Amino acid sequence: MCGIIGLLSEHRDVVPELLDGLKRLEYRGYDSIGVATLNPNGELERRRTEGKLAALSKLLHRKPLSGFIGLGHTRWATHGAPSEINAHPHATPEAAIVHNGIIENFQEIKTRLLTEGRCFETQTDSEVVVHLVSQKIRQGLEPLAAVRETLPLLEGAFALVFLFAYHHDLLIGARRGSPLAIGFGENEMAIGSDALAIGPICRQLIYLEDGDLAVIRPGSVKIIDQQGLSAVRPRRISSVASLDLGKSGYRHFMLKEIYEQPQVIGDTLNTMINPVTGRLSLPNLPELKRTNRLTIVACGTASFAALIGKYWIEKLARLPVDVEVGSEFRYRDPVLAPGQAALFISQSGETADTLGALRLCRKMGQGILSIVNVPESTIARESNVLLSTVAGPEFGVASTKTFTAQLTLLAALALVLATHRGHLSEQQETHLIRALMEVPAICAEILANTGPMEALARELLAPARDVLYIGRGLSYPLALEGALKLKEISYIHAEGYAAGELKHGPIALVDENVPVIVVAPTDHLFSKTASNLAEVNARGGRTIFIGDKDGLAKISNLAGSLILPKIDPFVIPLVYAIPIQLLAYYAAVTKGTDVDQPRNLAKSVTVE
Ligand code: M6R
Repeated sequence: MCGIIGLLSEHRDVVPELLDGLKRLEYRGYDSIGVATLNPNGELERRRTEGKLAALSKLLHRKPLSGFIGLGHTRWATHGAPSEINAHPHATPEAAIVHNGIIENFQEIKTRLLTEGRCFETQTDSEVVVHLVSQKIRQGLEPLAAVRETLPLLEGAFALVFLFAYHHDLLIGARRGSPLAIGFGENEMAIGSDALAIGPICRQLIYLEDGDLAVIRPGSVKIIDQQGLSAVRPRRISSVASLDLGKSGYRHFMLKEIYEQPQVIGDTLNTMINPVTGRLSLPNLPELKRTNRLTIVACGTASFAALIGKYWIEKLARLPVDVEVGSEFRYRDPVLAPGQAALFISQSGETADTLGALRLCRKMGQGILSIVNVPESTIARESNVLLSTVAGPEFGVASTKTFTAQLTLLAALALVLATHRGHLSEQQETHLIRALMEVPAICAEILANTGPMEALARELLAPARDVLYIGRGLSYPLALEGALKLKEISYIHAEGYAAGELKHGPIALVDENVPVIVVAPTDHLFSKTASNLAEVNARGGRTIFIGDKDGLAKISNLAGSLILPKIDPFVIPLVYAIPIQLLAYYAAVTKGTDVDQPRNLAKSVTVE
């Protein structure tokens, strides 16, 4: 979490570009924000504020700041409340720093520094770093030596950028656990949390490896690896410069990203389907093809995609699949036989819990595969096989297009494995591939008429305090996803349940004030879900049915319904994801919440 950026220019004021970079980094955290520069005398100056970029822009209007070198930070609070005082950059007269990550031993360091007479102004873990480095500079060390002596004292994860008083031509970056990229622009150098932050300024990028330290000077960077040796990291051309990073006329990024799904699903399929043979081909998957068990690890929405993947792979390929959330998996001492395969699903490719699980699996001899949206991310780079979702950058904190892109890849993976393992005939495979290829058009059709979703969300969901989602089979993970989507952007309490589980406890919650959304497409489980819906109705509950015409004809007593086209049951999750997302979106819009940047959240969760 937290977005960081540093810029060093030979010819212009960097503050406008720092703000531009911070705008693109806000998805990483947005509770407080700040910038620091060197004034012409070489002294450090800062502007910081609680709130988002708009608050910082206002502050800079009142109290301008400029400089040819500077740092910027947008925060997602871990230690210390969101406030001006706790906002980065943290500074002393000697240095300023921006930090992404957590310094786990900060309390010990702080206690020691306090006894040595240093004064702290914040409640953050990060502030110890600037004190340590400043203390060493005061003792006479040059900036680089001071940083090199400081880093080994820190425990935890960090991406750090340092700016030093009276050093107009030097930025130092360091990476342990949290990502950092360095960019080469025209007469300027940049360093930041990701390519999005610095890509538009710099055509060429390098990504630091774990343990790297980067000494950035005009036109050059020197990298020192964790052994203390000089290292070279490959330069890549930034693909971000040419991307449309705006809302293209949509009111929110989330809405734009929902509408991009037909294209994204189509593009993802096109990367895998041979246009001549119509057959699927994925990168070589030796790990997966020889394993007798697959572990899938992910967090949040990606974990619901994983669950759908499990249902598909087990049913079609008859391969046992375990799905785990990263934060539990990595600490529960899992039993994994060497030579099996593990798959990690992540939009950002930086989620700390998923990455930790990946590293554990690698140690335990698993073949590592990943489904990731950011190909330069740490998870992507640490995988043996990468399956890229080609969704483009996703700015809305709520995952939408990356969820359906992950599902597209998982569906293809299930088909490829099923064929390889001899459980699917060519004819069956062709039928299911066709069903997949029809999905973009079906989604586009649904998106062409969102009025019923808007009305339902406005009339039945937005006024509710609690909402339940239920579904069976492939619709069960969709119920989980629907509830997560609704609570994260509208702040309405929502829970998803397997429809058959309702009677084992949650049905006690049902009354006339709790809408129950029943995800019930026509599939082999329809009649069972319909019975669960009837059980809710019998208890005075208000049911909202999401299904097709055939299903609707078989049920009654509904508070509301959304009728979708009849589809092949295989592709239910891809199609039904759309109304699930739109219901949450319109409920949030009705409630007037910050849809793209909901409270307390961040897009990329790089802390545990
Ligand atoms: O970047 P990742 O896919 O690894 O992120 C995992 C979760 O943090 C993410 O899916 C989160 O649950 C979304 N905000 C949900 O919309």
